[in-house]
Amino acid sequence: MKIGIIGAGPIGTTISKHLFDAGHEIKIADLRSIDKLKDKDYKGNAVTIEDVIQDINVLIISIPFHVVPQLKNHLSQLDEHTIIIDTTNYYPFRDGNITSIEQGKVESVWVSEQIGKPVIKAFNNLLAMTLQNITSADGKKIAMAISGDNQNHKDTVTNMIREIGIDVVDNGELNNSWRHQPGAPAYCTELNQSHLEHALKIAVKSSVPINRDEVMKHFKPNMQHEDIVAMNRKVYGADTL
Ligand SMILES: NC(=O)c1ccc[n+]([C@@H]2O[C@H](COP(=O)([O-])OP(=O)(O)OC[C@H]3O[C@@H](n4cnc5c(N)ncnc54)[C@H](OP(=O)(O)O)[C@@H]3O)[C@@H](O)[C@H]2O)c1
Repeated sequence: MKIGIIGAGPIGTTISKHLFDAGHEIKIADLRSIDKLKDKDYKGNAVTIEDVIQDINVLIISIPFHVVPQLKNHLSQLDEHTIIIDTTNYYPFRDGNITSIEQGKVESVWVSEQIGKPVIKAFNNLLAMTLQNITSADGKKIAMAISGDNQNHKDTVTNMIREIGIDVVDNGELNNSWRHQPGAPAYCTELNQSHLEHALKIAVKSSVPINRDEVMKHFKPNMQHEDIVAMNRKVYGADTL
């Protein structure tokens, strides 16, 4: 497939490498300027924000959450058949307080409203390091949650993710995607398919943002990957699955 990626952080660049290696045609853009891609470690072609939306089957959005509203004008020329994947997560300490999200609006529903187009939420519930390794810290196969309202789009995204060696759990409609937002048992806890299915079911909406903020209190910049996953599992309630 022809895939465009907006955002060349740890998630966008890692996705570019896996999908390039799987045989897809990749182009990647930075919302601000193509110059920002100069020292980035990605696979595929660096293009401008205007070029990245041209002649693609799938567009992957992988930028800080609070920047998403800036995409609207750029995406107005996007072909209506292009599948859009939203990888973003909301962290108030980084993104500022967004009132409607604080009042319970589902993050990817907000993203969809901001850009005025439907999205599939995917690639948001794996840490960048997990996505790089494709497996959990102890080498086991892991699963990713996806949500969205268009079943054909979800099937295409599911095949794409399976191709790179990750199992997929369909979590249903976009409005249900709070079940894999930061703070949920399914969020960055490196679960296999059956454990992820269970984690998505046991999530409690009101606890999700509380647990997200609780983890941030314990986070230290020099933490090892395994320790971050263990902390997430404990605080988010995935350690007994
Ligand atoms: N990191 C993870 O483990 C992880 C896991 C799952 C989902 N996510 C979510 O996926 C998205 C991407 O995360 P990420 O960690 O890969 O990278 P990120 O730090 O969010 O940066 C992504 C891209 O956006 C650019 N960027 C930064 N500030 C910007 C601004 N004000 N305007 C336009 N572009 C800007 C970055 O450029 P520079 O590199 O030049 O700053 C980079 O190219 C985020 O929403 C994040 O919450 C992250």
